[in-house]
Formats: sequence, structure tokens, C-alpha cells
Amino acid sequence: MKLTIIGTGYVGLVTGACFAEVGHEVICVDSDASKVKLLQAGGIPIFEPGLEDLVKSNVAAGRLSFTNSTREGVEKSAIVFIAVPTPPLADGAVDLSFIEGVARDIANSMTSYKIVVDKSTVPVKTGDKVAETIKRYCKSGAEFDVISNPEFLREGFAVEDLMHPDRVVIGVRSQRPVQAMREVYEPFNAPIIFTDINSAELIKHAANSFLALKISYINAVSILCEASGANVQEVANGIGMDARIGRRFLDASLGFGGSCFPKDLSAFIKISEQLGYDFGLLKEVQKINAQQMERFLKKISDTLWVLKDKKIGVLGLAFKQNTDDVRMSPAIDLCQRLLKEGATLRVYDPEAMEKAKAVLPTVTYVADMNSVPEGCDAVVIATEWPVFKKLDLERARKVMTHPILFDGRNLFDPKEMESLGFIYKSIGRP
Ligand code: UDX
Repeated sequence: MKLTIIGTGYVGLVTGACFAEVGHEVICVDSDASKVKLLQAGGIPIFEPGLEDLVKSNVAAGRLSFTNSTREGVEKSAIVFIAVPTPPLADGAVDLSFIEGVARDIANSMTSYKIVVDKSTVPVKTGDKVAETIKRYCKSGAEFDVISNPEFLREGFAVEDLMHPDRVVIGVRSQRPVQAMREVYEPFNAPIIFTDINSAELIKHAANSFLALKISYINAVSILCEASGANVQEVANGIGMDARIGRRFLDASLGFGGSCFPKDLSAFIKISEQLGYDFGLLKEVQKINAQQMERFLKKISDTLWVLKDKKIGVLGLAFKQNTDDVRMSPAIDLCQRLLKEGATLRVYDPEAMEKAKAVLPTVTYVADMNSVPEGCDAVVIATEWPVFKKLDLERARKVMTHPILFDGRNLFDPKEMESLGFIYKSIGRP
């Protein structure tokens, strides 16, 4: 099928590449001329495992192309996906100006029936507004359907998530676009659920908020584990084996971050408020998440006492493994807080160091993880990169001023660390 995707961020670019991979002809549109140039030349603006190969092979096969022109994209495809950012406003509500702008651009370019698919994360009822806008600005009077098709991909696993989705959600108002959307998603062999548009829009915010809630729940349980001598990983395994609960997203940590959970939680709270409901449960999720960072910092300062002039090694800057994304990263927050206390930092991340430089200009970036501990009073693990489990601990103990390790992601075994001579503090474990 001929498909156009407007916006080449994480969602748009990966969606475009995966649609092309299964045989559709895809045009990706972006207003950023330099980004389009980079993509046309075979460059990829983000780190996402598997994406570069996918883009290159599909461009070479003639199924994937990039342009600045919304008009070209709209003229050449019957289905147009909107995948532009929906950033937070100061009060937690969602900035929908990019969506509105794209809706007008599409309307201006439409001369025949189009299916306009919203893939961006938007508040419930946005579909109605997009439809109203297109109707108002479409001079040709062409017919169209606006539908909602939220994306559930995780950064770092985006290609895998898109190629093998748990489910595809499509919110429609009429039957007219249903068959075409079935054909778009048929090659993915995933269950498709068709809903009304409001439900599809709500599903996205409700899903992300629930996952954030799950993490805050286990983080709250980790507090009880610390107070009682229990082990949060064993508790998570024990409750996670109940199929109704599930083990995933029950890893206690120094808190969740990233460009989705914090933003979507605030948005969902705001949306609820506008619909007349005070979603106190989600406010508590936010509170627990903030507390978790405070508690971790307290562990560091209780052990090191004064942080001024302490040399601390930090492993991990990205908000999670497998990405170079540092937006709303708990690791960056932690570094900034340690710097504020006067500590000096030696930091390493397998992918995120370039992006971190803009927000952490005054730290020492170290080229390999095993050199980070040199001369440090303590090392902190802030991101769950699996490679950190291979840290040369014998060497670290020898080159550190004091062998103290704070593990915000529970990557090591406390008993083993103790037997190696470390003072080791993790989350929710004795
Ligand atoms: C999330 C959703 O998972 C995805 O479906 C949606 O489309 C976008 O938002 P993403 O932000 O890429 O994806 O990351 P995710 O893997 O969900 O992790 C979010 C944060 O939670 C990270 O900071 C991660 O480290 C943290 N986390 C995750 C935990 O602290 N514990 C866990 O058990 C799982």
C-alpha cells in the first residue's frame, strides 16, 4: 500500500521503516530540511537497534523515501499518518500545536479521499478536533476519515515492538477505513482491535500510566523490603508469577524517566481533571517516583557524608538501556544533583555521551566503563545497560579510593559484592 508518515521522530521513522520492510511503499515527511537531507544520504538521527539497516535496505529497495513536502506525501498516498511530537506544556497539559499545524497542512493538500491516522499520543477527543480542523481548512471539499492508531513501541526495542506488536489498536468512527487499515497491518500477524476513537486515544494514556503505576508500586514495596530485610527481586518474582500480574515492569529502580511516562502521567492527570475526575492514584505514582530518587541520593550522602570534592563515577546516562536518549533521564537528574552538592563526576554511557554533553557540560566523559572507577570515592550505576554487569570488579576495587558501589538498577548480587570487598547499596535488598 502507499503510505505517508508525517514526522520522522522515534515513532514516525521506525513506523515508516517497518511499514516499508513488510512491503508497503512509504513516504516520510519532515519539516526539518537538515533531517530530511541526512536521511536521504543514509544517515540516521537517532540510535535505535536495527533501525539503520532497515532504513538503508528499504531505501535501496525503493520502498522508503524522504521529503520536506507534505503536499507530495498527501498527493501520493491514500493513508496519511500523523507522528509529530506532542510535548508537555508548563501545566502538564499537552501542546497540540504541531498536530493542529499538520492537520491544516494535510487539509490544504487534499484533493481526494484520505484516511488520516493519528499515531501521536494525544488527549482523548483530539480526533474530533483534527476532523473539525481538516473540514474547515480543506478547500477542495474532499472526503476523509480521521482515525486513531496509538503506538506502543519502547525506545531501544522499537523495531522489535513494531514488527511484533502485542496488539494493534485502531479507533474509527465509520466502517469506511476499516478494510484499508486491516491491509496495512495484515503483514504483522498481530491481533487488531477496532474501537471508537475516544477509546483508542484513552488506551494509550491508560496503558502508559498503568505501567508507570506498576513501577511505582514495586518501588514502594522496595521501601518495605529495606525496612524489613526482605528482597524486592524475590518479592517481584513471587508476585510476577501470578499470570494476572506478570513479572515485567516490576524492576525496582531509582525511578522511571524518559520522554513518555513522566509526560503521559502528567497529561493523563490533566485530562482527568478536565473531565471532572481527580486521579489521585496517579498523583501518588508521581510522588513515589520522585521520592525514589531522593531516597537513593540519601543512601549516597548517608554513606559518603559530605559530597563536596568527592570523586564519583557514574555508569549510565540514558534514561534506560539500549538508547542514547537522555530526555527526563533519572541518571542525568542524579548527576546534576551530585554536581550541585559539589561532587566531581567521571561518567560513561555506551551510547548517550554525545547527547549528555549538552546537559552535563562539567563532568569528565570516560571512554570505557572499566576506567570510570579510577580514583573514585564511589561508583553509581544509574542505567540498566546489561554491559555494566561485565564491569571488571577486581580492577574497580583496586583503582578506587574506596570500594563503594551504589546500584540504582540492582545489577549485582549483594552477597557477591560483599565477598569482593565492596560496600554495596542497591534498591530494596539487604
Ligand atoms: C514507554 C512504554 O513502555 C511504551 O509502550 C510507550 O510507547 C512509550 O513509553 P519507553 O519510554 O521507551 O516506553 O521506555 P520503557 O522501557 O517503558 O521504560 C520507561 C522507564 O521506566 C525507564 O526509565 C526504565 O528504566 C524504567 N523502568 C522500566 C523501571 O524503572 N522498572 C521497570 O521494571 C521497567
